[in-house]
Amino acid sequence: RLRTAILISGRGSNMDELIAAARAPEFPAQIALVLSNRPDAPGLAKAKAAGIAVAAVDHKIYAGREEFERSLQIVLETYRIDFLCLAGFMRLFTPWFISQWRGRILNIHPALLPAYRGLHTHERALADGVKIHGCTVHFVVPEMDEGPIVAQAAVPVLDGDDAETLGARVLAQEHVIYPLALRLVASGAVRVEGNRVLGALAESDARLVA
Ligand code: GAR
Repeated sequence: RLRTAILISGRGSNMDELIAAARAPEFPAQIALVLSNRPDAPGLAKAKAAGIAVAAVDHKIYAGREEFERSLQIVLETYRIDFLCLAGFMRLFTPWFISQWRGRILNIHPALLPAYRGLHTHERALADGVKIHGCTVHFVVPEMDEGPIVAQAAVPVLDGDDAETLGARVLAQEHVIYPLALRLVASGAVRVEGNRVLGALAESDARLVA
């Protein structure tokens, strides 16, 4: 099974779902480490309580991104990690770090990429008056919130929504598609051709595109 690290910065609800999914004996990835750039991230305590190895590499004590990433890399090598899942990890990587992990690193983003890259996606979707919003799991490339899309889920934007209610509706779908995407990638069920991820048709339904 693919030795996978989950990288978090905060509460880690997507992390929880990945850990739960990976407990199934036939799941093709095992969660071998949860790593945070914030030593006080609430998700770290939850992972530890779930019996997962945890580590923190505090970005604030490093002079620059390269130094921070070299420390991350040493921790990942120590735990013999083969695959990364970014789950609310709020740091950008340098091209050097991404090149170490190309094809072996997924991210979840709370919008239907390529719409709403960056932060405050729910506020911006509401301000634009869009009727459909959602979330995306994609391979990470050096450009922020770009890279081949593995899975997406769409949700309606309802009249009474604020960023909190819309965000909660999106988050519930994040929890569905991230384990699905990790399973597809870790099992080798999909292949990447240019910017497209192909081979997952059997998994798709009207709501989830995976
Ligand atoms: C999730 O909504 C995730 O999509 C988002 O942060 C949240 C983390 O929640 N990620 C980003 O905005 C990445 N730029 P979680 O810690 O409960 O999984």
